[in-house]
Amino acid sequence: MGSHFPGLALSVLVIIIGSVHCYNRPPPGKTLFVSHDGDDSSPQQVHISQVGQDKMRISWITESPTPAKVQYGPSPSAISFSATGTTSSYHYTLYQSGEIHNVLIGPLKSNTVYYYRLGDSTKTYNFKTTPSQFPIKFGVVGDLGQTEWTVSTLNHLGKSNYDMLLLPGDLSYADLVQTLWDSFGRLVEPLASQRPWMVTTGNHDVEKIPVIHRTPFTAYNARWQMPFEESGSDSNLYYSFDVSGVHVIMLGSYTDFDPESSQYKWLQGDLQKINRGKTPWVVVNLHAPWYNSNEAHQGEAESVNMKTSMEDLLYNARVDVVFTGHVHAYERFTRVYKDKGNNCGPVHITIGDGGNREGLATRYQDPKPEISIFREASFGHGIFEVVNASHALWSWHKNDNEEAVASDSVWLRSLSSTTACKV
Ligand SMILES: *[C@@H]1O[C@H](CO)[C@@H](O)[C@H](O)[C@H]1NC(C)=O
Ligand SMILES: [Fe+2]
Repeated sequence: MGSHFPGLALSVLVIIIGSVHCYNRPPPGKTLFVSHDGDDSSPQQVHISQVGQDKMRISWITESPTPAKVQYGPSPSAISFSATGTTSSYHYTLYQSGEIHNVLIGPLKSNTVYYYRLGDSTKTYNFKTTPSQFPIKFGVVGDLGQTEWTVSTLNHLGKSNYDMLLLPGDLSYADLVQTLWDSFGRLVEPLASQRPWMVTTGNHDVEKIPVIHRTPFTAYNARWQMPFEESGSDSNLYYSFDVSGVHVIMLGSYTDFDPESSQYKWLQGDLQKINRGKTPWVVVNLHAPWYNSNEAHQGEAESVNMKTSMEDLLYNARVDVVFTGHVHAYERFTRVYKDKGNNCGPVHITIGDGGNREGLATRYQDPKPEISIFREASFGHGIFEVVNASHALWSWHKNDNEEAVASDSVWLRSLSSTTACKV
């Protein structure tokens, strides 16, 4: 699909960009390349994302033009509904993407398996919608990439029976090589075609090249369209949605966040609109952690300045949890605000341990700050299981010899049910 940017120039660019991220890490995993198994008109890179309470956006790519049409229904023998959508494509230097199809389907029943077919293809896929009320189980993982470690993480996630995936940035680690976005789409399809994957951006998703390609997030925005209009946002790079009693907010660490920015103003308005009676839990996802006791990515502008700009907003709105990535390791903080333990602040969790090619961030600040409760440089994923309006179980599952081993877990209480934190 498409053509490659001239090899040598590209390697130089990759080296320049790669050198920004050099840490003393264990042997990084090699990038896997997943090829397309089918002809030019057959669907590939299928993924789904939730839109509003009862709709799903179905996204896929074909190499040749095919109809943007989804047929769906509650059993493989009753695929009786049909919807059409849009097709787009993008250029990136000399690369030309395939036909990117997006179709919105619904209304759908909650907690229900649907079967679907794409375009004129006879292949049947299926997904399960999210439950309309508690309990709901989120898979959470950032910095996925596409190595053998990513494969372990995805296998473990697949067995966890999660309802929805939250991905706080750094998806493919394509790092300008656009065919690696295609490969990533194929790698995650078995999971991403079955459960909604809700994503936000990391530094590896920016992909700007001085002079040559000035627009940021070209591939990300074309391939991973998220439901931003529905939350009054003007950008695919920040949005929110309600699911089963949880208000989920996705922010962009590499998009303007100062108090004059549209992201900031949108966030302020979004937080004001939250009805804790309807969504007792509020969860934020962003890439560059505001709290971090790893040596990696200390003091970066995106972390420090975004925290300075937005921490008061999240604290005053009694956000329960902030999931971040960027640092390739796991770390859980206590409830914090302005660098101190605070019972009414969010729990910050770094879950940038998906398994990308850069390897793990193994060096930690010594001694461990008191506000850091658990930290470990291993690959893995998190499960955030919201049991009811007041209780949720967070657990971290590390990849240990191909097994997913529960290594840290904690019960969290929602701040909306904590009398001392009432606003
Ligand atoms: C919520 O779940 C927790 C943990 O299972 C339980 O202890 C508590 O009683 C539940 N609360 C309600 C109102 O059901
Ligand atoms: Fe990152």
